[in-house]
Amino acid sequence: MEWIIGSGANGFGGVVRKGDYLFQAPLSFYSKPHSWALSPGYEFGNYGFNRPILAGCIYCHSGQPRPVSNGNGRFKEPPFSEMAIGCENCHGPGITHTLKMRARKGGSVENDPRSLTPAHLALALSDNICMSCHQTGDVRVLKPGKDYGDFLPGAPLENTLSILMIPPNRESPPQSDHLEHYYSMTLSQCYRKSGGRLGCTTCHDPHFEPSHEEASGYFNKKCMACHTEKSCGASLEIRRHKNPPNDCAGCHMPKRDVHVISHSSLTNHRILKQVDEPFPDAAFHQATQALPDLIHLNPIPGHKDTPPPPLTRLQAYGELMEKKPEYLGRYLALLGQLERTEPAARWCRPR
Ligand code: HEC
Ligand code: HEC
Ligand code: HEC
Ligand code: HEC
Ligand code: HEC
Ligand code: HEC
Repeated sequence: MEWIIGSGANGFGGVVRKGDYLFQAPLSFYSKPHSWALSPGYEFGNYGFNRPILAGCIYCHSGQPRPVSNGNGRFKEPPFSEMAIGCENCHGPGITHTLKMRARKGGSVENDPRSLTPAHLALALSDNICMSCHQTGDVRVLKPGKDYGDFLPGAPLENTLSILMIPPNRESPPQSDHLEHYYSMTLSQCYRKSGGRLGCTTCHDPHFEPSHEEASGYFNKKCMACHTEKSCGASLEIRRHKNPPNDCAGCHMPKRDVHVISHSSLTNHRILKQVDEPFPDAAFHQATQALPDLIHLNPIPGHKDTPPPPLTRLQAYGELMEKKPEYLGRYLALLGQLERTEPAARWCRPR
């Protein structure tokens, strides 16, 4: 094993090199159950040491990976110019900042607009930074000519890739399973009724991770930005019986009892009134007239109803066909439409 993915807080997995190619190791160690189990992805089949580390995977797990474009697991030498997730993953290129500072030598740093600081961005754009790694959806489609590394914090994620989800229905409700922190958050009343004032950084500061003992007090304070002790419908007596006492998130963002946490979130980010609260009706009406069969999780802020371009949709239907055969019809219909509107391009029909 040449590299390890994961800090060990949740677990870690290994990366193996063969020539210019990197491969995933089939077993990962999961800290909570304190045991080895299949690595993320291996639940679908036994790939041995033949599952390449693709760009879409390693950009979520390292600072500056150097995959060869469309290289299917091939990397430049050295494969990483920065191994751990670092400043630039959230703040953008430091060079912009140093150039700006040099240009106004003598000017005070206090006047720096610091557009690179997520806290100074519109909340939706700062959420985009977190979503680039914490929201997978059912399919992520790169814009033509773009690669994962092209995402620039502060710019809409949609400029680089679209995150799309199969609309849930009552028979198959959303699984809050797959790194869907953002999607879950958006289904809560706190998000929907606070007029854009709730985002990842409302509760999280990547520069401060509260210890296990501090967590309850730390997050309670975050709730108090919008609620008071009196907001809660449960009596203080009942709340104090909880361990730790009166832990708002402990009751309203319950943790899932997961044994193997391969790519699943532990804490329910759909802030609930009751533990078994059903999904709100709105969860089943998120598709739009312009995009009736997919949910677009990262539209450009302010352009909620603009669907992703036809090519993005075509690729999404293509990738989802295996999981959901009904997308084949959509794929062929859109393909037919594109053949008519863009006859110059060469279109491939699936066999
Ligand atoms: C480049 C990818 C990337 C970006 C961008 C990113 N994260 Fe993460 N984050 C991760 C990974 C990977 C982990 C798991 C680390 C581990 O324990 O191995 C993680 C862990 C976390 C944790 C859990 C820490 C713990 O110790 O359990 C929180 C909370 C978190 N991120 C919040 C955020 C927020 C908020 C943002 C946006 C401001 C953000 N992240 C942006 C990749 C990213
Ligand atoms: C969209 C971003 C994303 C992609 C793509 C992704 N991961 Fe993760 N992965 C995460 C985050 C974030 C966590 C942390 C889980 C959490 O706290 O929610 C994680 C957890 C893990 C863990 C458990 C250890 C840990 O850090 O918590 C392993 C091992 C892992 N991923 C390996 C992989 C491999 C290998 C691939 C590619 C085949 C991959 N992941 C693809 C974001 C991603
Ligand atoms: C996972 C994303 C993430 C990473 C990685 C990260 N930051 Fe931050 N940083 C943030 C967020 C979000 C804030 C705003 C925190 C807040 O005020 O709530 C911030 C705030 C700051 C601030 C304060 C700016 C201000 O205007 O108050 C500085 C300085 C800073 N970061 C520097 C760094 C440096 C240097 C590194 C690398 C060692 C780094 N950051 C890594 C997300 C990140
Ligand atoms: C940015 C503001 C904001 C923050 C931060 C916030 N909430 Fe809320 N929350 C709201 C709003 C607004 C509502 C809707 C109130 C209403 O319907 O009158 C709400 C509703 C709720 C509800 C009722 C949910 C339902 O389905 O009826 C609960 C429970 C709740 N919040 C708990 C919390 C907890 C616990 C935290 C901290 C972990 C928190 N909130 C953080 C704004 C916020
Ligand atoms: C209302 C407050 C709140 C908001 C908003 C919020 N989180 Fe969290 N998050 C929490 C709490 C509470 C925990 C559990 C922390 C603990 O137990 O130490 C948590 C845990 C996490 C973890 C650790 C893994 C897990 O599931 O327990 C990650 C990763 C994370 N949040 C990412 C995000 C991202 C990304 C966003 C934005 C899409 C976000 N959070 C928005 C309160 C929040
Ligand atoms: C012991 C578990 C528990 C703790 C701790 C707790 N709550 Fe609650 N909370 C509940 C229950 C149960 C309800 C629903 C009561 C009902 O149905 O009327 C509720 C209801 C709420 C509501 C919705 C009220 C309404 O009328 O719709 C809000 C907001 C809320 N809690 C916020 C908080 C905040 C903020 C904290 C931390 C200071 C907190 N809760 C701590 C169990 C708890």
